[in-house]
Amino acid sequence: MRSALCQVKHRIDFFEKFAPYYDIFFDLLTIKRYAGFQKKAVKILTPEKGEKLLDLCSGTGRVASWMAQAVGSDGEVVGMDISKNMVEWSRKRYGGINKGEFLFQDVTKPWGYQDYFDGIFTSFAIHELPEKKRLAVFEHSYLALKEKGRMVIADFNPKVSGNSNTISLVFFKLFERENLNFFSFDQNEVLKKVGFKRIKAFPVLGGIFQITLAHRSAD
Ligand SMILES: C[S@@+](CC[C@H](N)C(=O)[O-])C[C@H]1O[C@@H](n2cnc3c(N)ncnc32)[C@H](O)[C@@H]1O
Repeated sequence: MRSALCQVKHRIDFFEKFAPYYDIFFDLLTIKRYAGFQKKAVKILTPEKGEKLLDLCSGTGRVASWMAQAVGSDGEVVGMDISKNMVEWSRKRYGGINKGEFLFQDVTKPWGYQDYFDGIFTSFAIHELPEKKRLAVFEHSYLALKEKGRMVIADFNPKVSGNSNTISLVFFKLFERENLNFFSFDQNEVLKKVGFKRIKAFPVLGGIFQITLAHRSAD
């Protein structure tokens, strides 16, 4: 059995190789539903002109570019990713859209932002993170948000049930064996433990996917 560190490296290597084809591949595979899901999640984030937003594990930078359009030239969108090729690709394609930038950053390590962002977005990334580091990532997010800030997490639903559970498990066993531990992850509990409030989940496609909105403050 491969060690946890080795499994993580294997996943990152995959993103390194796949960066230029990632969006095209998933758009074709899902008949553009991948992008549709991401757009729905951005809508739930409700980006506004002039806001400072972060796309955590920003991949190709496409979602960050949509958020950059929404916040306009007075706003700022920062993307962070651990894959050098993803960061280079996003800089090449979307760099200089507004005041934002794409950073090479392992999000499980402290990022140095405090009370800075109005909103944090992340899609299809939390399930990729090492099991023991997910809480730390939510802690860094909580710290990096302004008092009235919010976070949107778009991903598989770890608590999926019924037939949808079978579909998710088969998919993970085939393509994401390293991340099967995600199904024992109690995301809401961890968000609450970190201090997030007003947590609301929006199920998508029979509950296989989920978009979660969480706020830093109670009101
Ligand atoms: C499945 S892709 C999703 C990319 C993008 N958010 C999207 O929705 O298309 C997961 C991304 O998370 C990044 N990633 C994985 N572990 C990371 C870490 N510890 N720190 C930063 N990025 C990470 C990968 O490099 C990859 O780009």
